Parts: sequence; C-alpha cells; structure tokens
Amino acid sequence: MCGIVGYIGDKNAYPILIQGLQRLEYRGYDSAGVAIYNGSLTVHKCKGRVADLERHIADKDISGCIGIGHTRWATHGEPNDRNAHPHTSMNGNFVLVHNGIIENYAELKADLKKNGITFQSDTDTEVLVNLIEYFYQKGEEVNAEIAVRLALSKVVGAYGIAVICKNEKDQIIVARKGSPLVIGIGHGEYFIASDATPIVSYTNSVIYLNDNDVAIITKDSLTLKTVENTPVAFKITKVDMTIGDLEKGDFEHFMLKEIFEQPKTIEDTFRGRISPDRTEIVLGGLMDVFPKLVNARRIIIIGCGTSWHAALVGEYLIEEYARIPVEVEYASEFRYRNPILSAEDVVIAISQSGETADTLAALRMAKENGATILGICNVVGSSIARETDGGVYTHAGVEIGVASTKAFTAQVTVMTLLALKLAKERGKISSEVYLNLIQELSEIPGKVKSILVKHPHIKSVAAKYKDASNALYLGRGCLFPVALEGALKLKEISYMHAEGYAAGEMKHGPIALVDDNLPVVVVAAKDHYYEKIVSNIQEVKARKGNIIAVVTEGDDGLKGMVNDLFEIPKSHPVVTPLLAIIPLQLFSYYIAVMRGCDVDQPRNLAKSVTVE
Ligand code: G6P
Repeated sequence: MCGIVGYIGDKNAYPILIQGLQRLEYRGYDSAGVAIYNGSLTVHKCKGRVADLERHIADKDISGCIGIGHTRWATHGEPNDRNAHPHTSMNGNFVLVHNGIIENYAELKADLKKNGITFQSDTDTEVLVNLIEYFYQKGEEVNAEIAVRLALSKVVGAYGIAVICKNEKDQIIVARKGSPLVIGIGHGEYFIASDATPIVSYTNSVIYLNDNDVAIITKDSLTLKTVENTPVAFKITKVDMTIGDLEKGDFEHFMLKEIFEQPKTIEDTFRGRISPDRTEIVLGGLMDVFPKLVNARRIIIIGCGTSWHAALVGEYLIEEYARIPVEVEYASEFRYRNPILSAEDVVIAISQSGETADTLAALRMAKENGATILGICNVVGSSIARETDGGVYTHAGVEIGVASTKAFTAQVTVMTLLALKLAKERGKISSEVYLNLIQELSEIPGKVKSILVKHPHIKSVAAKYKDASNALYLGRGCLFPVALEGALKLKEISYMHAEGYAAGEMKHGPIALVDDNLPVVVVAAKDHYYEKIVSNIQEVKARKGNIIAVVTEGDDGLKGMVNDLFEIPKSHPVVTPLLAIIPLQLFSYYIAVMRGCDVDQPRNLAKSVTVE
C-alpha cells in the first residue's frame, strides 16, 4: 500500500521518479507527488493518479538530481492535494514520503502541538516529518540521520520512508519497519523503491532492507545501520526480472495479459519441481522442514483475499490426499484470536506479494508460539519469504493487475504439488495414482490454452450479463473456493455485487435472491460432487435464475438445463480448479471492460496491503 521511490546520482531525478511511480501505481493511486532538490527543496503533489501529477507538473521546473516520490493509498485523511505526499516539516527542513501507518500519531501530534508545531494535513506522515524536525532543532549535535533515528525510536507502527533534509542535501535517508524497501545500486547512483519494479530499468543489483534498518545514501556511498545505531552488513541480491515483465505488450490491460500468461506461469511453477521423467515431485525450499510437514499434527494455512482462496483449495487437496488435518484462516483473524499452537503445528502463509501486513504479523505470532512457519510467495526476497523456515516460490512473474489471476493459479499449482508430495511421502496414495496425478498436472498448461482460445465466446456471454446488479457463484468441494474466487474477481473489478457460496448452503439463504434477473454462475465440472451440483442447478432453474455453468467438455446433459456454459477440458478433480477459474477470470474481465471500469486499478483497492 502506497509506493515510494527515490533517486540520488547525476541524472535528472524527475523522469526516474515518475516512471518509478507508474510502476508502483498498483500499490495505491489516489494521489501522487514528488520532492526534488535543486538548490532548494521543491514539492509537487496532487490528488489523482500519476498521470494527473505529470499534468500538474508539466509547466514547472523539475530539474535536480536528488528526489523522492510517492503514490498514495489513503489511510489517514481523505485523498486530496493537502494529504498527498511528500510532506514537509513546519520549518521546511525535511521532506518525507511514507508507506505504512504511524499508530501512535495522535499522541505524538498532541505533544508536538504543545511545542508550537502546526500541521497542514490530516496525515500520520506529517506528524513523523515534524517529529524528525523537532529532534533536529532541539539537540545541538543532532544531524539529519540522528534526528530520523530518534524520531523512529518513538514511533509505533509500520513504515517505509525516504527523507531529504534541506541542509544535508547530498543524501537521502531511508528506513523500514513493516513496509518493504529496496535499494538499487547503480554506478555513482542509487535508486530507492517499495519493490524492485522501478529499479530493474537501471540495475538488477539490489539490497532488500530488513525491519529496523536505516540507510544513509549519498550518490557514491551507502551506510546501513539499525535505528539504535548499530552497523548492519548488507547483502546484494540479483533481481531476475525484465522490462518486458513490466509492460502490457499487445494487451489492452495487465489483467488480460496476466490471464493469458497462465499456461506459462503454471508451467514455470511446476517446472523443476517435477523430475524430467515425471516420476517425482521435488520441493527444494522445503527439504529441511519436510520431516516436520510430513509429521505435522496439523497444518494451518493463512492468507488474505485471493491467496486465502488458494489456501482453501490446499485444504481440500491436502486433507483428501495426504490425510493431514488442515485449517485455513484469514490472517487478519488468526493474528488476533490467540490460537492454540504448538511445535507440532506447521503454519503456511500464502501471499503473492509476501508483504501483506496481516499475513506477516500472523506468521510472526505463529513463530513466537513455536510453530514451524513456511511461505508460498511470488515476490522473491519479500518479507514473508525471508522470515520463514522454508517455502516454495510460485514463479508467476510480476503481477501488476490489482486483481490477482496468474498468482492464484500458481499458488494452486504449489498447493497441488505439496498435497501430492505429502500424500506420497505418507504412503496415502499408490505410486500409480501419484504418477497419474503428476501427469495430469503436467497437461494443465495445454488445457488452459485451449480454454483461452475460447475468449470470444466468454466475451459474448459477458455481454449478456454486464448490466446485472448482483451475481451468485456456487461450487462444491475444491470448486467451492473457485466459486469464491470467481465472485471476488467480478466484484473487485466490475463493482457488481457477487457472492460465492458452497452450493449446498444455497438453500440456507441465497436462494431467496434467485429470480429471473439473477445470474448464477455454477462451477459444475465433473467430479464426485457432480450429481449434487446438478440438483442445485435444478433448484435455481425452478426459480427462473439465469444459469451460467462451467462444465466439462462433452457434458451434454447440462446443455439444455443452463442458459450459458463455459466448457473446460476433462481432467482429474485434483487439477480441475486450475482450469475452472480461467473462464471466470475472463468473464469478470470482459464485464468490467464493458462497464467502463478501470480493470487494472479498481477503485479503493491496492495490490499490496501493507497496512492492517
Ligand atoms: C489485496 C490484493 C489481492 C490479494 C490480497 C492478498 O487485496 O488486491 O489481489 O489477493 O491483497 O495479497 P497477497 O500479496 O498477500 O497475496
């Protein structure tokens, strides 16, 4: 949530900052701003998107080789020009951009007011920049770095910050606690960003800051220490990302590009994990902890949003095949509800970004309570990936569309690999079944392709339902989480209200909504729940609901019963979620486009939720 960028070197900072903000816009897009040093500190900021900021700045002098920038997802204070970042301290000594939340800002603000400090905005960030200035002006020996560290030592909450001091203008000070920060190392220049996407245009050598790190950066030096002034050694990591990964190419939207990338991203996720002769699943990142997993008393999978849906698929698969008890929890609930945990529990966090605040906090809590903690993340080097005892990367590549698509199928792919590997290791499935299921998984990319080519049909069905106000999504078993995910996709990008339900629960409430205006999407692929879901279809049909069914190719029985259908290739139920979600992603996408919605950056949402 919120993206921050910075540059210090010999180049003009502004183009670097603006391009960086465009790359980070998925993290928040309700206002944007930059501060550039050029003899004096100049701040330009406004409500709206990065493009609005560019228009706002068009006729202004923006030269200067040191700068910081921000794209905001509002927490404290409505999105407007005043609350946009960067924020300047009362006497103009400091400018600061911030991602995170200062939880004790009200108390700090009251103290600062008592000392005569006045505020222009409603933000917690302006409190922090003034606290820095307060320490700077108060102590004789206090330079900018000391003032930043003193202020941070008083702060409760999360931050990724970049600060420029007017009087020490050849440096940028950055710090992190809870919100990610990456520093790119160039030749005589450094780049700062919330993630590596703005940096890879210039360098692939980066340093990921850890919590409590403070970096003092000039154009030719970088000093890393803790808030308490203890020196920290830094590790340079090579980022494996190309510019092509960050561009839309021939697609109209990132979301569409990412949907169409899935044959490759699913394959990338299992490639290297299925042995070349397709007889073994190898999960290298779990090697050290595998005995713990195999003997776990219980596996708890935590996540938020789409990742939580992938966790639910995991629950069905692991319990069914490996026979280990699994619980799935919203990270935001789990972290606060004092769960009973022991050293025999394994807690797996699923997170595309690896930075979701609730998931990270829940994981830390589980660790403190003695559980083994594992991560299934997409972003390499992310906080969750670094803090866990082991894990599996999803290899979906950079996902930019706020609505998750390819990350979901990559997560489900990992869940499938894990369930099968555990099942084999625990002797719960025969070698024959194991080999057959590995084969089924390896055929998924080709099958996904065959669904994607049917996009014109999916688009035509979308056109029929684009004006509906509500939609109901139903599924059973492993396809219940697919129904939840389908409904989430629709509501988040088209703003059409949609609910996912376990089909068997329909009679306990949602059936009251069914009339001839309600589209009911039923995920009815052939599996052992099939007969049951057909009964649910009959119940909806009897009440004149419009049924759109996801069905297995060749299932002619349902053709006469439903209004529209999306066919998916025949597959084993263990891998069917990977196919059934594809038409639902496209269906949501086309409806959102037809409704004129901003598909890649839906209102009020952000891709990486680094605040509670
Ligand atoms: C946000 C995003 C979702 C994502 C969720 C969890 O709500 O918009 O797409 O599923 O966060 O994010 P994570 O990075 O932990 O998977």
